[in-house]
Amino acid sequence: MSDSPTPGTDLVARVEAIWPELQWIRDPELRRRTRDCWVLAFERSPLEPEDLDRIPFTLHVPDCKVSFLAHKRLVVHVARESALKIREFMSAEMEVDEDVLIAGAILADVGKMLEYEKDEEGKTVQSRRGKYLRHPFTGVGLAMECGLPDAVCHVVATHAGEGNLVERTPEAWIVHHSDFMTYEPLVAGLRF
Ligand SMILES: [Fe+2]
Repeated sequence: MSDSPTPGTDLVARVEAIWPELQWIRDPELRRRTRDCWVLAFERSPLEPEDLDRIPFTLHVPDCKVSFLAHKRLVVHVARESALKIREFMSAEMEVDEDVLIAGAILADVGKMLEYEKDEEGKTVQSRRGKYLRHPFTGVGLAMECGLPDAVCHVVATHAGEGNLVERTPEAWIVHHSDFMTYEPLVAGLRF
């Protein structure tokens, strides 16, 4: 892995505060690079770490009450719990690298920091960059710049619909489904 940028300590502490799940990553270097990737994203974003608990996780659900941060953390929790059950019941058939899984889940939407910007009234809107490059692409760009392993970049790259065009690893499948099972029922669910 190549050297990653040296982040500011203030942002480091604030990223660690919003992402307690970083502590689940056992490999200290992977944990540090995952954290630093979020720091780098905030350095290039109009958003602050604390904004993530205020903005909705999707713009596709009108008046969505679930915050961006709540949904991102939920995906990490669902992915990790899924991996634990997969290990318990079928580890012989489906090996899951839990460090890759957790780092990939934490970073899946890091590129969204570059998809948003604030307009003149301070409202959060989609950025021009976000129109050109959806967050799986910018997320991989940030992750590679921070020296994250290809296995983690793959999870970021394939977690959304774009990933349906390529073969996913077990870790990428788990993150993809953890993300979509907590999103699609809200936007396309059967309701009465
Ligand atoms: Fe996403």
